[in-house]
Amino acid sequence: MRKMEHLISINCVKLLIATLFYTCVLSSSVEQKIYVELNNTVPCVRLLNATHQIGCQSSISGDTGVLHVLETESDLDWILSSGPHPPYMVIMETAFFNRSVMMRMKNSPRVAGVAVIVSKTGLADHFSPHTTCPNQNTGLYSENNAPELANCNMTVWNPFGNGLSYEDFSFPVFALKDENQTQVIRKCYEDHNLRVNGSAPRYPLCAMQLFSHMHAVTDTVTCMRRTDLQNRFSINPEVLCDPLSDFNVWTSTRPLNSSAKGHVADESVVIAATRLDGRSFFWEQAPAAEGTVSGIVTLLATIQALYPVTREAPPPRNIFFTFFQGEAFDYIGSSKMVYDMEKNDFVIDLNNVHSMLEIGQIGLRRGQSLWMHSDPVSRRNTSVDTEVLNLMKNVNSAAAGLSVKLDQPSFSQPLPPSSFQRFLRAKQIPGLVLADHNTSFNNRYYESMYDDAENMNVTYPPNLSPDEQLVYETEEAKSLAEVATLVARSLYMQAGGENSRLSNITADPKIVAQLLYGFLVQKNNSWFRSLLPPEVTKKGDNSILSSGPPQFYIGLGPRIHGPVHSVTRFVQYILANLTGSVTNLTESQCQNPSEVNTENKDFFSYFWVSGPASVNGTEEPFCVQASVRLSKAVSPAFELLQYGSRDYSTWTESRWKSIRARIFLVASRELEMLTLGVGVAVLLLSLLVTYFISSKAELLFSSARETPTTTY
Ligand SMILES: *[C@@H]1O[C@H](CO)[C@@H](O)[C@H](O)[C@H]1NC(C)=O
Ligand SMILES: *[C@@H]1O[C@H](CO)[C@@H](O)[C@H](O)[C@H]1NC(C)=O
Ligand SMILES: *[C@@H]1O[C@H](CO)[C@@H](O)[C@H](O)[C@H]1NC(C)=O
Ligand SMILES: *[C@@H]1O[C@H](CO)[C@@H](O)[C@H](O)[C@H]1NC(C)=O
Ligand SMILES: *[C@@H]1O[C@H](CO)[C@@H](O)[C@H](O)[C@H]1NC(C)=O
Ligand SMILES: *[C@@H]1O[C@H](CO)[C@@H](O)[C@H](O)[C@H]1NC(C)=O
Ligand SMILES: *[C@@H]1O[C@H](CO)[C@@H](O)[C@H](O)[C@H]1NC(C)=O
Ligand SMILES: *[C@@H]1O[C@H](CO)[C@@H](O)[C@H](O)[C@H]1NC(C)=O
Ligand SMILES: *[C@@H]1O[C@H](CO)[C@@H](O)[C@H](O)[C@H]1NC(C)=O
Ligand SMILES: *[C@@H]1O[C@H](CO)[C@@H](O)[C@H](O)[C@H]1NC(C)=O
Ligand SMILES: *[C@@H]1O[C@H](CO)[C@@H](O)[C@H](O)[C@H]1NC(C)=O
Ligand SMILES: *[C@@H]1O[C@H](CO)[C@@H](O)[C@H](O)[C@H]1NC(C)=O
Repeated sequence: MRKMEHLISINCVKLLIATLFYTCVLSSSVEQKIYVELNNTVPCVRLLNATHQIGCQSSISGDTGVLHVLETESDLDWILSSGPHPPYMVIMETAFFNRSVMMRMKNSPRVAGVAVIVSKTGLADHFSPHTTCPNQNTGLYSENNAPELANCNMTVWNPFGNGLSYEDFSFPVFALKDENQTQVIRKCYEDHNLRVNGSAPRYPLCAMQLFSHMHAVTDTVTCMRRTDLQNRFSINPEVLCDPLSDFNVWTSTRPLNSSAKGHVADESVVIAATRLDGRSFFWEQAPAAEGTVSGIVTLLATIQALYPVTREAPPPRNIFFTFFQGEAFDYIGSSKMVYDMEKNDFVIDLNNVHSMLEIGQIGLRRGQSLWMHSDPVSRRNTSVDTEVLNLMKNVNSAAAGLSVKLDQPSFSQPLPPSSFQRFLRAKQIPGLVLADHNTSFNNRYYESMYDDAENMNVTYPPNLSPDEQLVYETEEAKSLAEVATLVARSLYMQAGGENSRLSNITADPKIVAQLLYGFLVQKNNSWFRSLLPPEVTKKGDNSILSSGPPQFYIGLGPRIHGPVHSVTRFVQYILANLTGSVTNLTESQCQNPSEVNTENKDFFSYFWVSGPASVNGTEEPFCVQASVRLSKAVSPAFELLQYGSRDYSTWTESRWKSIRARIFLVASRELEMLTLGVGVAVLLLSLLVTYFISSKAELLFSSARETPTTTY
């Protein structure tokens, strides 16, 4: 009897071991889930305004789908209807990333996410994920002011705009930038997921998982209310979204006392402006070459051309140069500056403004006319009209001897999207916007990741070293230098300078070439390094001098994203170099100039910079004094706590915890079910055995001990 029990229990243990072994073997074949983390991926993130959310997100635990590469129309049918393994994670080349394809997927539950392989092969003739009428709700023309011009009724500025950047996708969309990783994904796909003669592929299949869960939902009003609530009632408040913000950069030919606010007596300024930022569908991917860089470079070259002359023969009026941040998102920077001027919280006010000249998109002139855009509504006022005509006359006479042809659009045509519109909303200021287009934009890649150096035809002959490329004068550089000369001379005349000085104002094509290289190709170059503080040029990968062009997406400011690699910092230091003077201050004096009684912080900023590297590779840092200033570029809506504002930008960016992408193999559902089934069976069995053994424990174990005695 005891022997019998003994035998049963041994058999049980054997069975248990066998089952465990079987499970182990089975699950190890399933556990071939070798995760490959993908690096260099760029998500599309969620942004919110007063009424909407746009962008993309995954579920909180990431979205997973079987990989399918979209290569033909029939792949689309496979993904959306016939394929047997939904949901699919769709991999596509640039050529397929357009509105019709994305909108068909948007409404399908069979799509888990999209990954776009970024390359320029097969790029369509035009692609702009922006709207056809940029900033249409926050510009000058509205239901109340010239409704016949509102909503691009007269001129559709960006006819190629497909609006993708303003859609709300409920699945993640990533861009894959690394060629080699794309190969890894392709190989995984080809090895496991390829259809053989039209029949479904068999398990295990290659799958992808994308993580981009966004904390904020619905709109800025909701998000800010929830964040405020959290702040009030929680010890550990969690911020759900942040207003888009950064800084405007400004300087003036005659330094202004930055501690004094409001109207400056006897000061009349001519404003020269351009924008600093751009955007695209994907987060922080905004080369913004024609859209923004053409203007930045031209205005910087203008300043460089003007400075020697304005120092020697200052014109009666001051010239105020400003670079506006966040203009792509409903004019954040310009609306803030105008707001501050109206509130007497800026170094000048609107009554100090004599006139304004703005540089728009001017990189695609290609020998054609430069267009002077003006506002037909304010020109109905004859005194404004006279001033506008006078400004046009100055620009026209500045063109004498230059190879720039000038033209003006028909009188009734409204202004293109421009910062000047925000000034006109507040006061009828005479002004012009210079652009390379008459009606719709010449730029066929407006606010997309393809508006890059190539779009502006900034390319270099092969075999040039980086240092040779830096100073290589492309046709584009020469063309922009001509425009910069034109703008500089126009401004000098507009400020009342002597005509005899005009021939001394000439922009340097070499400076333009260096600026184009730095902003479009490589910010980590010897010139930019010499202009920045020594500590930032020494840091590693994450410093502001990482490889590639600077960041043109406005972002959330330095507080959240660590080191600022944004264009703002570069423009600030370049301006310091172009307009400043070298001082003999030491490093500590430079950081604290108020302790030196000859220096004046009200009029100047002080910059401790690396200086050019000498032959033996060392650099001699020095202190530069310049009247270059930053002013906050954050929408007044957040200062006024009007999160539903219709007058000011309300754009916020959602927070998130992790952005991640990985691929791995998945077993079939049946196999997974079987594994689960066996697992449950084993569990039940082991429970049973444990119960059996423990209930008979006394018997089993005591018998074992008693055995010798009982045999006697
Ligand atoms: C991504 O980076 C990690 C760590 O640097 C590396 O182990 C992994 O192989 C990379 N992934 C790919 C696909 O190259
Ligand atoms: C979108 O891409 C597909 C595939 O390349 C193409 O067939 C289709 O014509 C494109 N649609 C538009 C509107 O460009
Ligand atoms: C658009 O402009 C036309 C004239 O060009 C005008 O007749 C029409 O009323 C305008 N539409 C709106 C909505 O103002
Ligand atoms: C918010 O953005 C959406 C999407 O672009 C737009 O339709 C809507 O008009 C915007 N709301 C405001 C108040 O501007
Ligand atoms: C891709 O792989 C090749 C060869 O393995 C290598 O030379 C190259 O540097 C890699 N490129 C990137 C971006 O990692
Ligand atoms: C696919 O079909 C072709 C012709 O129908 C046949 O020759 C080939 O062997 C098939 N391939 C496989 C892998 O079944
Ligand atoms: C600048 O303005 C402030 C405030 O009005 C004033 O106190 C200061 O003296 C001024 N600085 C100079 C150098 O004039
Ligand atoms: C681009 O630049 C090259 C040489 O710099 C020139 O030959 C070519 O015509 C330019 N293309 C356009 C479209 O301007
Ligand atoms: C201005 O140009 C004239 C000749 O065009 C030249 O003689 C003079 O030296 C120049 N002045 C400066 C400051 O460059
Ligand atoms: C500007 O930069 C150049 C080149 O690095 C340098 O030689 C010059 O001294 C700098 N000037 C100022 C005012 O910083
Ligand atoms: C800097 O130069 C000024 C004169 O330009 C001189 O008075 C001052 O002592 C110098 N300071 C240093 C630290 O050399
Ligand atoms: C490097 O050269 C500069 C002059 O160009 C000299 O003053 C300095 O002492 C040199 N440094 C070294 C480490 O040789």
